[in-house]
Amino acid sequence: MMSDTLRSNWAVMISGTGSNLAALLDLESVLNINLVISNKENAYGLSRARRRGIPTFIFQNNDWDGLQKQLNQYLIDYIFLAGFMKICPENFVKNWEIYNVHPSLLPAYPGLQSIERSFQDGAEMGATIHKVIPAVDEGPIILQKKSTVADTLSASEFQVHLNEHRLVRKAFACHKK
Ligand code: GRF
Repeated sequence: MMSDTLRSNWAVMISGTGSNLAALLDLESVLNINLVISNKENAYGLSRARRRGIPTFIFQNNDWDGLQKQLNQYLIDYIFLAGFMKICPENFVKNWEIYNVHPSLLPAYPGLQSIERSFQDGAEMGATIHKVIPAVDEGPIILQKKSTVADTLSASEFQVHLNEHRLVRKAFACHKK
C-alpha cells in the first residue's frame, strides 16, 4: 500500500515499548527509517533504535518547531506514529504526511484505553492504520484487521497487538527501498 514511498525516508514517533517500532525495524531491507523520536527519554523503543544505529531524538517541551527542524535535517519524507501518545497540532499535521497505528477498529474507540473500553463493552476488537488528519484518530483508513476476542482482557490485548504488528508489516509489503 505504501509502495509509492519508494526511496523515501521515514521518521517513527513513539512513547513507550516500541513493539510497533520493532515491527517497522524488521522491515529494514525495504524501509529507510532515518530517525526515531520519543517524547519520553526512557522509552524502551529508543533502545531498539539505538541498537540498530538509528539516530534518536527526544521531543520535549512541546517544541514542535524544533521537531520540524530535526525532521528536515534528516530529510524525512514520511512520519509513522507508532504508539506516540501526544496529539500533533494542526500546523504540524498539515506540513507532513503522517500515518498512525491504533488499537481499535476505527472509527470505533478513538483516543485512550481503546483496548480496555472495547473489551469491557463486548465489542469487536482489532487494529487500524490510517492517514493522520488534524483530528484525533480520524483520517482515511489504509488497513484494518479484526482480532479474536478472548476471555480475558490481557489475552485480547495480546491479539490486538499482534494484529497491529501484522498490519505494520502488511502496510509496507510491496514497498521497495
Ligand atoms: C499500541 O497499541 C499503539 O497502537 C498505542 O500504544 C501502543 C504502543 O505500543 N497507541 P508499542 O510502544 O508500539 O509497543
